Amino acid sequence: MIEIEDLKKQYVSDDGTPGGGIFGISFDVAEGELFTLLGPSGCGKTTTLRSIAGLELPERGRISLAGKDIYNSATRVSVPMYERDIGMVFQSYAIWPHMNVFENAAYPLKVSRTRNFSRKEIHEKVVEILEMVGLGEFIRRPSTQLSGGQQQRLALARALTREPRLLLLDEPLSNLDAQLREQMRVELKRLQQEWGVTTIYVTHDQSEALAISDRIAVMNEGLIAQIGTPKEIYNRPTSEFVAHFIGKTNLIHGDLAADATAGALAKVTTELGPLQCTFPAAVPATGNIAVVVRPESVVIAKQGGAEAGELSAVNRIAGVVRNEIYLGEIIEYMVATDNGTEIVVRTPPGKDIGKDDKVLMHFPPKNTVALIEK
Ligand SMILES: Nc1ncnc2c1ncn2[C@@H]1O[C@H](COP(=O)(O)OP(=O)(O)OP(=O)(O)O)[C@@H](O)[C@H]1O
Ligand SMILES: [Mg+2]
Repeated sequence: MIEIEDLKKQYVSDDGTPGGGIFGISFDVAEGELFTLLGPSGCGKTTTLRSIAGLELPERGRISLAGKDIYNSATRVSVPMYERDIGMVFQSYAIWPHMNVFENAAYPLKVSRTRNFSRKEIHEKVVEILEMVGLGEFIRRPSTQLSGGQQQRLALARALTREPRLLLLDEPLSNLDAQLREQMRVELKRLQQEWGVTTIYVTHDQSEALAISDRIAVMNEGLIAQIGTPKEIYNRPTSEFVAHFIGKTNLIHGDLAADATAGALAKVTTELGPLQCTFPAAVPATGNIAVVVRPESVVIAKQGGAEAGELSAVNRIAGVVRNEIYLGEIIEYMVATDNGTEIVVRTPPGKDIGKDDKVLMHFPPKNTVALIEK
């Protein structure tokens, strides 16, 4: 549905010094897909969306929507914003306080330059969409008398009324409290699927991205670091940046003696001894390997206990529990290995393991991922 190729937009500050932006990014989004741009503040997420919407003129690259170029620096095409078939909910979404709920949602239809809608058509469409987002009973209410979550839904309804081919959502849940955000996240995903609208979603919240996306592009400093499904991004990060950005992780340094092929296991010599690791990408023999193990992938057992006897001899490391934190459905152990490396382990509660206990850990090779260190 949308193709972005080598898109560049760099801002220049008032005194002429080059600033931030995006520096040549490429990705495709399939019809009906929910595609997320995820990355830290200032990495270029909003710049990307604004360039797609036509609010920003890039310097270079190509954007095509449904097979038609809406921007192409080579052929000097730039379709004006109002002729692009795109709905957008802005980061600081604004509903218009002088309009009631119905008027807010109907506005894009009333001012549409591509089609003239009759009053009846507008009424039917707007009511249908307001009902879909759960605002059916508030149609005549002044929009200032809505809660934060209701205003959020109104902003979404307004972006949907024109039935755009593409929906751009810039941190649409950022103004909500944690509980409402989780609830709206589920609702948004449901609406997006029901409606089947192709969506580019922007967030800097990794758990939100993992929960709702079909695919994620992790961005860093104006570039895309990795594109993949939530599972791929989480379990097979291809860089330290992605591994760290996507959640708590253990990182162990080591050397690779012989070339490793993509998707295969190979032995890495690390500070903890030899580790059998999965290589998501081919890596030539090098002294700069980072081994990534998620805390919940580590199997832990008390030394001398029955479970310890069943632990695989591969990737088995001894240590002492320095600390334990109870997180409700999960317990987190900080384990110090014999050489002083600290490993974080997460496991469901119920194990007879506590502070100062001697333990054995096992890193399953398929979840022990090796990368080239930066
Ligand atoms: N209008 C502007 N003029 C100058 N620099 C800008 C402008 N807009 C953004 N930038 C710079 O471009 C870079 C990317 O900004 P952008 O707004 O795309 O980041 P973001 O990923 O959306 O961040 P956030 O999560 O904080 O919203 C930043 O370094 C920012 O300071
Ligand atoms: Mg932004």
